[in-house]
Amino acid sequence: MAITQIAPGIHYVGVNDRTTTRFEGLWSLPQGVSYNAYLVVGEKVALIDTVEEAFGSRLEANIREIIGDRKVDYLVVNHMEPDHSSSITALRRIYPDLQIVANAKALQMIEGFYGLCGNTVEVKEGDTLDLGGKSLSFRMIPMVHWPETMVSWCPEEQALFSGDAFGCFGALDGGITDSEVDPERYWDEMRRYYAAIVGKYGAPVQKALQKLAGLEIRSICPTHGPVWQEQIGRVVDLYDRMSRYEGEPGVVIAYASMYGNTEQLAERIARELAAEGVRNIRIYNLSYADPSVVLRDIFCFDTLLVGGPTYNAGLFPPVAELLDKLAARCIPQRRFGWFGSFTWAGASVKLLGEFAQKMKWETLGAPVEMKQGFSPKMYDSCRALAHDVAEKFHGKA
Ligand code: FEO
Repeated sequence: MAITQIAPGIHYVGVNDRTTTRFEGLWSLPQGVSYNAYLVVGEKVALIDTVEEAFGSRLEANIREIIGDRKVDYLVVNHMEPDHSSSITALRRIYPDLQIVANAKALQMIEGFYGLCGNTVEVKEGDTLDLGGKSLSFRMIPMVHWPETMVSWCPEEQALFSGDAFGCFGALDGGITDSEVDPERYWDEMRRYYAAIVGKYGAPVQKALQKLAGLEIRSICPTHGPVWQEQIGRVVDLYDRMSRYEGEPGVVIAYASMYGNTEQLAERIARELAAEGVRNIRIYNLSYADPSVVLRDIFCFDTLLVGGPTYNAGLFPPVAELLDKLAARCIPQRRFGWFGSFTWAGASVKLLGEFAQKMKWETLGAPVEMKQGFSPKMYDSCRALAHDVAEKFHGKA
């Protein structure tokens, strides 16, 4: 059996990227990322998605390893974002008769991005492509996380080509399927990927999960990360919980500090929380923390405490940036507490309170506001806020 085969007649032809440092120009890739593409070989050959264009020659070599000089008949574009589509132009040069199979929105984007419009097959919900011995049917899952997103289903092998859905950061270190890797390595990277990339689109992800719920899936073949075969239940459950915005009991304390005084508030509140038996506390200094890691943990835990100094009569920029990211992701509910500082005129505590109101989040305790430097006189207010958070944590309030 070819080492690329993940199911009879289905081969992995994707690549690893261990050089790009910022996914979408934004998100860190400490463990790299894979761009997954798949070849479905029947009497006809279909390629499902492509790879980032810098890796196009590797994609071609991977395809040729499997089918030699046979041609690729179809390219199915489940998702048009360029990390998966930017090799289309090169593929068209290599396989001039290649028919591009996509929905109307994706075809419009393919023309807009690459100027390609001929030799296309437009598909709609439920349409089937017969490859001879294998087939693919298409289901639309709009806004997971672009409007054109769809999945392809191969009923003969019960394989779901899911696009970014069920994807995760982290390159593939040799193994392709989850039975060939240590899956533990990928869970945090899946949460981080979800929070950073898909996080705004909880409702469309829920709709997609409902639409796909009836399928007896043996392989989930996403566009990033391992092919899931043994851990399908856990993967679906993780996406379900993340897209419901359900946080488990735990507290993220996200703060920024110019001279260490607000930082001491954060440390003190955290210490009081721990003394009250709160576990799962994560503290992040927003001037230095990786934003995708902070977002990941805010998605994972049910309580968020944010603090920062007043700056230019407003929020300190790293704090403002976090709030922007949270508002953009439309997180419907978190327990929220806040703290802040000022030297001559306070603004950050007031503005954090307005943020909580705008998000319609449940607020906890009295906000802690500090004038100028940290001192023992702040202990009582830190303890009081921590106590109210702990009461909720323990289910007493
Ligand atoms: Fe992996 Fe939305 O592109």
